[in-house]
Amino acid sequence: MHISERTKNIPTSPIRKLAPIANKAEKEGRKIYHLNIGQPDIETPDSFFKATREFRPKVLEYGKSQGREELLEAVQKYYKEWGMDYSLDNIYVTNGGSEAISFAVMTTCDPGDNVLMFEPFYANYKSFVGAYNIRINGVPTSPDDGYHLPPEEEIEKYIDSRTRALLISNPGNPTGVIYTEEEMKLISRIVRKYDLALIADEVYREFVYDGKFKSFGSMPELDDNLIIIDSVSKRYSACGARVGCVISKNAAMDEQLLKCCQARLSVSQMDQAGAAGLYTTPKVYWETVRKEYARRRDAIRTALAAMPDVVFSQPKGAFYVMVKFPVDDIEKFAKWLLTDFSIDNETVMITPGNGFYVSSPELGKDEARLAYVLNCDALKRAMYILGEGLKQYPGRTR
Ligand SMILES: Cc1ncc(COP(=O)(O)O)c(C=O)c1O
Repeated sequence: MHISERTKNIPTSPIRKLAPIANKAEKEGRKIYHLNIGQPDIETPDSFFKATREFRPKVLEYGKSQGREELLEAVQKYYKEWGMDYSLDNIYVTNGGSEAISFAVMTTCDPGDNVLMFEPFYANYKSFVGAYNIRINGVPTSPDDGYHLPPEEEIEKYIDSRTRALLISNPGNPTGVIYTEEEMKLISRIVRKYDLALIADEVYREFVYDGKFKSFGSMPELDDNLIIIDSVSKRYSACGARVGCVISKNAAMDEQLLKCCQARLSVSQMDQAGAAGLYTTPKVYWETVRKEYARRRDAIRTALAAMPDVVFSQPKGAFYVMVKFPVDDIEKFAKWLLTDFSIDNETVMITPGNGFYVSSPELGKDEARLAYVLNCDALKRAMYILGEGLKQYPGRTR
């Protein structure tokens, strides 16, 4: 049987690549602190489970391709509270933010086209675009200036006749960056000048620790170009529900999005009912959760600041931090932590940074992404183990 080149070219997720080694270590009885994956340990609000318990249809039908009415209305109301007005025809329920991204690139790019992204970017973006033979034009950013954007004319150098979209996560995974209003205006100018789609992945919108979040959806001049990616996964700690949505005010785009939804028939009715329930969760939930993540952010940056020769930029949002370690090869270090190192039979798992870059295989070779999704005590212990591992690692460069 022939296996297509394009699926062969999809990289293994760097976030899950070391999973078999970690599974083996866990089977052998070693405890692993998972700093590698954005799976929050915060309890999913009971509103999800209550709504699914109350969901008792006589027949479990496909339902509408666009999504269940009660969920579309809940999303519409949520956006209104953020000061953004969307009609129900602008909102399309998807299998998580992941499918929303796939739909967005599929509807804006043809094979051979390219999407502009700021490196380092969420590693799975490579898979979403790779599956459609779409390329990435990676624009470098650096921890030295907090992964903020390069000047406008620098970004423009990465745009060519096949560039169709700019895909950006704000707050940023894996960097924790929050773009300033000036940067958002810069992006808005660029996408309008070149008539690109702006695919704004705002799944971490609630996770901002310093200051307020501004959505690209609040910039009316972007209405024609903007596609918003959204999800309940992180917002309500409901990653397993697999419910997200893609939103656009561009009527021509909406027509295409509806066809994408029709082709995959529908999203799980039960999970959509649960997700609609989630949107009734009192807002105090976010206050509590945000405070908890802010504590974790503080704990991880204190621990990192105490590690000699480690470089990182202060994370401002989401729940990740990109870290430069004084090691020969981050993948070797990450493996070594799982196979050759432990303290009292406990170790840590980190995500090698090279998967978050595309423009050169050298980029990210000494970087890792850490997710601060563990409670503060577990996180402090994990960071202690990581620090000791770094001291003992034979491939240390300093
Ligand atoms: C930036 C970003 N976008 C999208 C997703 C996809 O999330 P989901 O498909 O669970 O909604 C993730 C998951 O980690 C993410 O970090």
